[in-house]
Amino acid sequence: MIVLGIETSCDETAAAVVEDGKLVLSNVVASQVDVHSIYGGVVPELASRKHIQNIVPVMTQALNDAGINLDDVDGIAVTQGPGLVGSLLIGISVAKAIAYTRDIPIVGVNHLEGHIYANYLEYDELDPPFVILVVSGGHTDLVYVGSRDRHYEKLGQTLDDAAGEAFDKVAKLLELGYPGGPVIDRMAKDGNPEAVDFPRPVLHDHSLNFSFSGLKTAVLNYVTKELEQGNSINKADVVASFQAAVVDVLVEKTIRAAEMKSVNTVALGGGVAANSMLREQLAERCKKEGYKLFYPSKIIMCTDNAAMIAGIGYFILKDGENSELSLSTDAFKRSVGEHGYKVKGSK
Ligand code: KG4
Ligand code: ZN
Repeated sequence: MIVLGIETSCDETAAAVVEDGKLVLSNVVASQVDVHSIYGGVVPELASRKHIQNIVPVMTQALNDAGINLDDVDGIAVTQGPGLVGSLLIGISVAKAIAYTRDIPIVGVNHLEGHIYANYLEYDELDPPFVILVVSGGHTDLVYVGSRDRHYEKLGQTLDDAAGEAFDKVAKLLELGYPGGPVIDRMAKDGNPEAVDFPRPVLHDHSLNFSFSGLKTAVLNYVTKELEQGNSINKADVVASFQAAVVDVLVEKTIRAAEMKSVNTVALGGGVAANSMLREQLAERCKKEGYKLFYPSKIIMCTDNAAMIAGIGYFILKDGENSELSLSTDAFKRSVGEHGYKVKGSK
């Protein structure tokens, strides 16, 4: 079964073709970084306009790269949410138009389930139960994956900012550009992670929740105070120390979640899973404590892409589900595991 995936939840316009939920025949992502970077963050209205321009060329390229045309597509999977409403609507409208004109099934996919699925696309040996940290610009969720039958349980989440959001905001306040994660990741390699002792929020509470907004404020306060005292700022040291604080908390709580659920496997998904320090430190900790660790080896499979959407979409379609043409957005913070997420639809 050939599934065309479409993903427009935020600021990447993406389309991909995946065969039988496994073989990625194409995976095209058009970034909008140049549009949003001057504002230091995503401007929803501009994102929607850019999706409108990009969606058909991106989809056409995905079909061309896969060496197929629309006649060969057996089903459509489109991101339904969470995300920006105006952005989601572009992908959903295009997906519905194709499903209608071609008379093929369509399913709405949860974006976060897509991030989880990115690991299945790459690793045949990844077998539930496992605990996954889904960490992106919008979410920082610890999720227990109980079975291949899309059984999810949310164990913890951020109480305020997502980890990626904290990277983006710290980069903005230090005028490093957007998105902040990759810039800080690179710059931190030249800094001392012990230069500034930033707080590790909620590290020692007993929950599996996170909180990053206080850490972001601690960076702001540190920078303001140093400048007021006439000191210069070593940005590499500041970002290395900030990143170390974020990574410490992410690693600690992920391991704690794995212990709590008595699993032997841990995984990472979402844009922040691209972070080299997070990958290294979690790998080190997993090795020490005897956990198997999986994360997408390619950065494109950590950040937003449509292959992960087509991949999980295949399994939903194979189950006989069809969201039909009344499909609409589910833009808000509905995570996997929160309400036993399953796409509703008649068969
Ligand atoms: O999953 P994603 O592409 O979009 C959302 O679903 O939000 O994640 C984007 C987030 C941004 O906040 C970006 O700064 C962060 O992922 N990110 C990183 C890295 N690459 C992307 N954060 C830390 N280190 C990175 N290398
Ligand atoms: Zn994402």
